[in-house]
Amino acid sequence: MLTGGGDCPGLNAVIRAIVRQGISQHGYEITGFRDGWRGPLEYLHEELTVESTRGILPRGGTVLRTSRTNPFKRADGPSEIRKNMDRLRLDGLIAIGGEDTLGAANRLHAEHGLNVIGVPKTIDNDIGATDVTFGFDTALQVATEAIDRLHTTAESHNRVMVVEVMGRHAGWIALYAGIAGGADVILIPEQPFDIDDVCRLIERRHSRGRFFSIVVVAEGAMPKQGTMEVSGGATDEFGHVRLGGIGHRLEHEIETRTGFETRAVVLGHIQRGGTPTAYDRVLATRFGVAAIDGAHEGRWGMMPALRGTRIELVPLAEAVAELRTVSPEEYAVAEAFLG
Ligand code: F6P
Repeated sequence: MLTGGGDCPGLNAVIRAIVRQGISQHGYEITGFRDGWRGPLEYLHEELTVESTRGILPRGGTVLRTSRTNPFKRADGPSEIRKNMDRLRLDGLIAIGGEDTLGAANRLHAEHGLNVIGVPKTIDNDIGATDVTFGFDTALQVATEAIDRLHTTAESHNRVMVVEVMGRHAGWIALYAGIAGGADVILIPEQPFDIDDVCRLIERRHSRGRFFSIVVVAEGAMPKQGTMEVSGGATDEFGHVRLGGIGHRLEHEIETRTGFETRAVVLGHIQRGGTPTAYDRVLATRFGVAAIDGAHEGRWGMMPALRGTRIELVPLAEAVAELRTVSPEEYAVAEAFLG
């Protein structure tokens, strides 16, 4: 197995579940590749045993380490992975990751015939075909607690606090933490915002005698074209721009336009670090067990998904076809509470 892309609370719970179920129920030997796709490309691996994975369930991060290596950046990437899998006499590979890792896993299976199973992880909760990804619940708890704490300091100082949370293409963390934390403005990537509307909502609160406001913004939120300037950044191996910055841009704009004192807080990787919630540990464990059971049955090209309360295997191709983003109906739930 390997863990790829950004780390996420619950990865170690998946690793442990695959090892335990694989060894005790199916009698397999389990190999862990290091550093995401770099592991099978460069033959970086270790044997994982019940003993070596003891005590990792509540730990954040991934004991296998991770990277944003793209195996399709090298022309010989797929053949190197096949060669190294054959060298280790592996039956198949379980790739635990988000849209990029699973996209690569799907191509390795569909275009190169490799025996691959995916496991969906991301705090962003934006993988298609599954209702939830593990890691999201932990990030949501962290973001909600931060908003609760910022509320009391915002109120004491009569300030606007802008809280920037993660969420590249999907605003699930912003929307749910905003609802749970009672935010006054929620900005998500799915709905480009108008800075005039944002300021109007804050000014309306002030006119009603509420002299502080909480603005929750997803890092991927964008202003409507031509309404506010934003700048781009460096890109990774999958072509994604490094985000982070919209919170401080909003801090400046809101303070300048309304005259209200404004502060921005970027939660960043705090949302990804540390121990997973009980919900994420259980979901990750269920995904891990389903993944190794799927491998045992030869269900290559599939991925465990949460559908309602059940875990089902779904085609990887379906999972990576489209990101799961916030619909206007889901966002509308928050609207009555804004401003
Ligand atoms: O994909 C998960 C995620 O946490 C995004 O929300 C965020 O844009 C990105 O990872 C940050 O990645 P990095 O760890 O490379 O800064």
